Amino acid sequence: MRTPCEEVLPRSEHLRVLALDVTDPESIRHAVEAAGPIDALVNNAGIGMLGALEGTPMATAREVFETNTLGTIAVTQAVLPQFRQRQAGVIVNVTSTVTLKPLPLLAVYTASKAAINAFTESLALELEQFKVRVRLVLPGRAPETRFAENAQPRMQKAIPEAYAGLGQSVFEGWGHPAPVTQALDVAEAVWRAVNDASCPVRLAAGADALALL
Ligand SMILES: NC(=O)c1ccc[n+]([C@@H]2O[C@H](COP(=O)([O-])OP(=O)(O)OC[C@H]3O[C@@H](n4cnc5c(N)ncnc54)[C@H](OP(=O)(O)O)[C@@H]3O)[C@@H](O)[C@H]2O)c1
Repeated sequence: MRTPCEEVLPRSEHLRVLALDVTDPESIRHAVEAAGPIDALVNNAGIGMLGALEGTPMATAREVFETNTLGTIAVTQAVLPQFRQRQAGVIVNVTSTVTLKPLPLLAVYTASKAAINAFTESLALELEQFKVRVRLVLPGRAPETRFAENAQPRMQKAIPEAYAGLGQSVFEGWGHPAPVTQALDVAEAVWRAVNDASCPVRLAAGADALALL
């Protein structure tokens, strides 16, 4: 966690919470050192951004890529040497089904996740020789998490007047009852990706995601 908080999860002798900001090379180095030998790396940290490209400052686009794309790449790079040396380990990258079905007002976010799909599939081939597995988990829309709330600060003025009608139709669409993804669906897909060596490179998580994939 960027700000470690022991109370978020039930206490357990099997659980240790470490500080990690995936955009900070020093923080990554410390976390990997403090973790000791790692069996599975799950790159789940991610930030959202909904808005028209015209309403998205380049600084915001960079922020999204720093976390979702370069953060995943940097943490993976930091963990890889021990996986290669032990000839064991699993890397699971959490992206999104928006990379399968394009939606408006998500161009930057989708690009940041689609890059990780491509990264993962190439890396999987590169690491096969070392018995290191690399997998993708693609959740559908998961309104139960704090994703939308956490994206709010990046979304000020993100929908300029010319895009207001489109914005309204997207928000109205989300109001209709439809299958969604639960956090538990994602946890189960991650568990399978880590423990089932025969699972495919791309795993959908959630009822809406399964329908798409
Ligand atoms: N919710 C959805 O609809 C949805 C759909 C498809 C895919 N996803 C993906 O699922 C993953 C989890 O998202 P969520 O829905 O659980 O959203 P969330 O509730 O906002 O959780 C995102 C997590 O990422 C962490 N994080 C953000 N920036 C970080 C950084 N620089 N270093 C370390 N940790 C960082 C946050 O930690 P802090 O506590 O420090 O903020 C938070 O724990 C993300 O990769 C997201 O893109 C979400």
